[in-house]
Amino acid sequence: MKPRPLRDNIYWLGAVDWDRRLFDSLIPLPDGTSYNAYLVRGREKTALVDTADPAFETMFMDQLKGIGSIDYVISQHGEQDHSGAIPAVLCRYPDAKVVASSKAKELLIAHLNIEEKKIVTVEDGQQIDLGGYTLQFIYTPWVHWPETMCTYVKEEKLLFSCDFFGSHIASSSLYADDEAMVYQAAKRYYAEIMMPFRSIIKNNIQKLEPLEIEMIAPSHGAVYRNPGFIIDAYREWISDTPKNLVVIPYISMHGSTKKMVEHLVASLTEHSVAVKQFELSGTDLGTLAISLVDAATLVVATPTVHMAPHPLVSYAAGLANALHPKVKFATVIGSYGWSTKVAQRIAEQTSALKVTIIDPVLCKGNPGSDTFAKIDQLADSIAVKHKEAGLD
Ligand code: FEO
Repeated sequence: MKPRPLRDNIYWLGAVDWDRRLFDSLIPLPDGTSYNAYLVRGREKTALVDTADPAFETMFMDQLKGIGSIDYVISQHGEQDHSGAIPAVLCRYPDAKVVASSKAKELLIAHLNIEEKKIVTVEDGQQIDLGGYTLQFIYTPWVHWPETMCTYVKEEKLLFSCDFFGSHIASSSLYADDEAMVYQAAKRYYAEIMMPFRSIIKNNIQKLEPLEIEMIAPSHGAVYRNPGFIIDAYREWISDTPKNLVVIPYISMHGSTKKMVEHLVASLTEHSVAVKQFELSGTDLGTLAISLVDAATLVVATPTVHMAPHPLVSYAAGLANALHPKVKFATVIGSYGWSTKVAQRIAEQTSALKVTIIDPVLCKGNPGSDTFAKIDQLADSIAVKHKEAGLD
């Protein structure tokens, strides 16, 4: 793909990775992704903002053919999907300087063996004049590593945001014109990468508020010509108030736990509480992560395997614990044979969540009317707690 103009003398470069299905050997990519870089050609100096994943280095270097000089390589984030082609760029443009935050400098040396003398560090708010274009650097830590910064082109009111506001989407379209599709992909990205740092993301959003922004160009996915769309979406996701929603990740080995889940879903629905259930042996965990952005209550449903939760449930509980969603209440339901330790184990596995624990409902073997009555009581209790929290 050839460079594509965003503004006069500002171009998109990079790669659309249609086929990638896993990121960091961890995160599912149902829609592929892209690695966006940007070239800003001032009257006196030329800057390249980020590069591309090493898998696309040859293609990326082909895109730079015809560019006689690059003065600055702005490395907004040290992760290799954006920094991976920097060594190749420095090889072709030996006079270029890498511009990075001081934390990024350390990471670029550690991960890519870039020579220290090639890196110029910039402070939060510092500017570089390219001649007609001024780049201002804004530290935005934890989107997605601690060193990440954004770059604001003052004259164009254009923000290069790196992972911040990004989405894993492969598309021939450069822009976020299909906002419904981009919303879901960006929410998945937020959930998987940034939700653990929600309070810091809030600060980062506040830092951007004084800037007049007409376009946001992230380093994954679509470019926003309507930046209010994605900024408002982030404001909703980072808010402290969850929705009137219960999320139930579950596994059932012989059908008993599934009966309990189905009864709980029906009972909550009668109380007008929204529910999402996820059968974990067939679930893309990204969809579970997306639902956790909004959930007020997490109900972990698991059979007992020897004396522990089912391993897939433990994995999902560990994921929820790591993503640190804003859930307020949590409990466990499930069937067991001879041990009732699962609730305690799940509580240990989700100990980072700041939740009120609701009494679990465990059932020996096949659930009967007494278990279903307890599940109805649990649904009542959840509905009341949501109402008291002002969520209905
Ligand atoms: Fe897209 Fe954190 O790298």
